[in-house]
Amino acid sequence: MDRFRVTGRVRLAGSIPISGAKNAALPSLCACLLTGEKLQIENVPPVRDVRTTLRLLQYIGVDVEETAEGSVLLKAAGLEKPEAPYDLVKTMRASVLVLGPLLARTGRARVSLPGGCTIGARPIDFHIEALRRMGARIEVEHGYVTAKSSRLRGVEYHFPGRSVTGTENLLMAATLAAGTTVLHNCATEPEVADLARLLRAMGAKIEGAGTTTIHVEGVDALHSAAHRIIPDRIEAGTFLVAAALTGGDVTLRECAPEHLGTVLDLLERCGQGIEKNDGEIRIIGKVPPAPVDMATGPYPEFPTDLQAQFMVLMTQATGTSVIRETIFENRFQHAAELRRMGASISLSGRNATVKGASRLSGACLMATDLRASACLVLAGLVAEGETIIDRVYHVDRGYVRIEEKLRKLGARLERIQGS
Ligand code: EPU
Repeated sequence: MDRFRVTGRVRLAGSIPISGAKNAALPSLCACLLTGEKLQIENVPPVRDVRTTLRLLQYIGVDVEETAEGSVLLKAAGLEKPEAPYDLVKTMRASVLVLGPLLARTGRARVSLPGGCTIGARPIDFHIEALRRMGARIEVEHGYVTAKSSRLRGVEYHFPGRSVTGTENLLMAATLAAGTTVLHNCATEPEVADLARLLRAMGAKIEGAGTTTIHVEGVDALHSAAHRIIPDRIEAGTFLVAAALTGGDVTLRECAPEHLGTVLDLLERCGQGIEKNDGEIRIIGKVPPAPVDMATGPYPEFPTDLQAQFMVLMTQATGTSVIRETIFENRFQHAAELRRMGASISLSGRNATVKGASRLSGACLMATDLRASACLVLAGLVAEGETIIDRVYHVDRGYVRIEEKLRKLGARLERIQGS
């Protein structure tokens, strides 16, 4: 298994491009299952979760051709095995995104239950309940969701809670259903709106994506389309925190400042200088940052996927910050590793109280999930001495060559290849 070695306390400076959004790419790739015609998807980030999704689609029977880096041509003419097996789903929960499109197009799907993961239980009851209302017969047994239906029918469904992949799954299923589907209390994340943009290009009739109520008028078939994935707001947020931590001066290119409103506001409240241009963000870091209280929430609130990274920043603030995690019940695992580096963090239920400023010192650390491992890399950037981060395959699930991008900004960070 690969590890990272980070030598801290280097000020970051320079400019780097932001890659396509992993969490927009995954549903867009799965959307190919809705048509037998070709889909061309651009700006697909070459991360491990994308590789896993492409492997899953090939297993199902999709022709996958990578025409250039970031360009994928997909054709789902015959779907021999409408199934997502456990071995693929266990490494990536987003595999559940094949359920809606497979059922809508072929009338059957068998998808391994994703199960819990380190950040929380993460059930898929909303997906199942909504598809049942659309007429699917769904059984959950032997660790699999087995679904069958004749043509799905449009319904009115109110999500009991906001779910990103739940909204995406239902949106895809509804495009081919008979009649109109109205989805209430939908996730409003930019990744949902991006998927809807692709589906509309394929001939779907969708209104309201990006708001909490989405109307879909089902059509008989969808067709070929080309689509470019939006920039990754979480990757951008991670680099912004890296720059803030080191008092750096960093410009992010090819990003979408409009998707980072709350994050940029919070950075400004911490004293960081932010300049926005079309597709660019420049951050002029200020050390030490000011402490802030913050809570994660559904978009446009602060993203849970940046909570761990912000916790590192708050360890450097002069004063006390309270971070409240409202989306996942177990997303503070990084706190224990940060404490081992010298941070003062106490946990109480969904609140983390961070007392700064702490002098972090390099240590050997273990990555536990994707965003927690990014947070450990950031902690290594401000720590004294050397930090070794084990199990960086977690980082590779969602970041495109993070070590190369950080090195370009001056960081001393290397990958140690595992056996
Ligand atoms: N929930 C239910 N029942 C459901 C679905 C969700 O109770 O049927 C609950 C979850 O347990 C959670 C909340 O609803 O408490 C929100 O979960 P959501 O379904 O929105 O999460 P997700 O769709 O599984 C996506 C991202 C995550 C990101 C969350 C929240 C993808 C592929 N994944 O997950 O990304 O944290 O939304 O924004 O889009 C990551 O990239 O590191 C990552 C974990």
